[in-house]
Amino acid sequence: MTYKYVLILGSNVGDSKNFIFSASKVLETKGIRILQETEVLTTFPRLVSNQASFSNSALLIETESTPLELLSLTQATEHELGRKKREKYGPREIDIDIVWWSSGMWQSAELSIPHAQNRSRPWVRKFLAELVGKEVDIETQIEYEQMNVNSIEKVHDFLKKKKAGEKITMLTCYDYSMAKLLSRTSIDTILVGDSLGNVIQGQKNTIPVMLEDIIYHTKAVRRAMADIFITSDLPFMSYQSDDITALNSAGRILKESGADAVKLEGAGRFLKTIEKLVESGIPVMGHLGLTPQSVLAFGGYRLQGKGEKQAEEILKDAIELENAGVFALVLEKIPADLAEKISNTLAIPVIGIGAGNKTDGQVLVIHDMLGIDPDFQPRFVRHYANLSDIIINATEEYCRDIRSGEFPSEQESY
Ligand code: KIV
Repeated sequence: MTYKYVLILGSNVGDSKNFIFSASKVLETKGIRILQETEVLTTFPRLVSNQASFSNSALLIETESTPLELLSLTQATEHELGRKKREKYGPREIDIDIVWWSSGMWQSAELSIPHAQNRSRPWVRKFLAELVGKEVDIETQIEYEQMNVNSIEKVHDFLKKKKAGEKITMLTCYDYSMAKLLSRTSIDTILVGDSLGNVIQGQKNTIPVMLEDIIYHTKAVRRAMADIFITSDLPFMSYQSDDITALNSAGRILKESGADAVKLEGAGRFLKTIEKLVESGIPVMGHLGLTPQSVLAFGGYRLQGKGEKQAEEILKDAIELENAGVFALVLEKIPADLAEKISNTLAIPVIGIGAGNKTDGQVLVIHDMLGIDPDFQPRFVRHYANLSDIIINATEEYCRDIRSGEFPSEQESY
């Protein structure tokens, strides 16, 4: 019986490209037939970050070996190429992972196929899409081709993702440590939102947020995320008064913080301002529906676009924003059918928050998604974790251990 497998090769010690090249040659001497190989990509270490970047490539192979027999061959190859035993996820002369098998799934103590990290390593998904095309991921039941294989690095990639029918995943982020964690996930893009006024500063709304606050937090996020596309909010009164103020504010954000784009709320009288920003080379993301900087005028955080007239107005504003040159549009807290209509009408991607699931992507405030504030749970927020419980319990344990003299222990002392 002949099987096909996909192997991922990785190396970040010495001449890493040569290790990858040699691994293919050694595998061939063991009777493995290489059907196709991908280019070698440079990828960043995810789980232990203080090490060199990796060279990674993938092979589609054919062999009569069963998964465990193949595992012995790959381990023998690693050994022959001089792989040294080091910390888990640490530097490696050569690492060979079996990530896909034509017969489907394999589970044993030594080996799991598909590989547990297929989902969180975007380059693995890219390789799988290239090598096995329309095959379905056994774990997620998603076709590799539909997976998030187009990363967002430049402003035009937003449009590419919409055209490819790939949903855009966006989260807010405001600090270095969280950004470092997010950089190890497949999140497409980051928003340094003025929601930092609520979740970082503890303000009642976003009105008090200053341009300096946005610059400060964007800089911190950028330090941990070299390549990700970051959009930063223009805060209240940094663009509303006149075009020169708007240009100066947006210019400062891009020049001082390393953001790739700015977001501003509203249309109508801001269309001309947006045109000026775009003409000056500043990518702008729009924001319609519930625009929190207008909370005082709205009199609260109510659903927008409910009646026919309001819905028509939002649709008209969305079209005008697209014509003014925004590259993407956030729609917040509007009915799902209106958001769907706008997403279908516009060529640019629409990213929803409280706007149903027919938009081209979704965004949430990271503190809400992680359940950091248990008291804040509007209908559109899903808590993917309950960090509030984890943080409170860990802190209580810490206090208990200090009081009982259990922390620090001898091993934790000098
Ligand atoms: O400030 C922010 O976080 C936002 C999102 C809620 C879209 O604008």
